Amino acid sequence: MRRRAQTGPRHLLEPGPDAQQRRQLFEAAATAPDHGQILPWRFVLIGEQARARLGEAFEQALLERDPDAGEDERGRARGKASRAPFLALAVVREGGDGQDHIRPHERMVSLGCALQNLLLTAHAQGFGAGLVSGLAMDSRALRACFALGEHERAVCFVAIGTPARAREPRPKPAPERFVSELAP
Ligand SMILES: Cc1cc2nc3c(=O)[nH]c(=O)nc-3n(C[C@H](O)[C@H](O)[C@H](O)COP(=O)(O)O)c2cc1C
Repeated sequence: MRRRAQTGPRHLLEPGPDAQQRRQLFEAAATAPDHGQILPWRFVLIGEQARARLGEAFEQALLERDPDAGEDERGRARGKASRAPFLALAVVREGGDGQDHIRPHERMVSLGCALQNLLLTAHAQGFGAGLVSGLAMDSRALRACFALGEHERAVCFVAIGTPARAREPRPKPAPERFVSELAP
């Protein structure tokens, strides 16, 4: 846990997790706390064959923000889909399922726990891993590409692979910075 550090997708190379390791990753995600056991999140794997499609969605998302984007910028946007041997989109369901007493932020906490379990398992397997979001996440193009439902939100991508270089964990905030005590 202490050794985990973000590795960006561009530094994640082959080999990535095999089928058995991928199963372990998702089984670890499934151990996340889940108020009401409503499974308010899902992951969509982006296999080798689907990378070009994701690249087109990134390019379209860029054009939504900037219709005048040039070919260089569009090529860079497309290229982001080709990084990391394992790439999956994490999606949260914020409501719309008759369980509205479980609020969107509680659902997000459950996804956060699932993501952390997945990241820690990837590191225990000897891989590097990272989370990536960015401006495309709420775009019409990305939502259409992943056929997101009305109440679903794309949160981030999870990228896993063999790190090109060892990454030292960052200095962590001391507990005094985020722990206080309720006055009696
Ligand atoms: C939901 C989420 C989205 C993230 N998106 C990005 C991103 O787009 N680009 C990036 O470099 N890091 C992203 N990160 C990773 C953080 O930058 C990273 O966790 C932070 O810098 C702390 O570093 P550490 O994970 O090595 O401790 C994201 C983290 C979370 C939780």
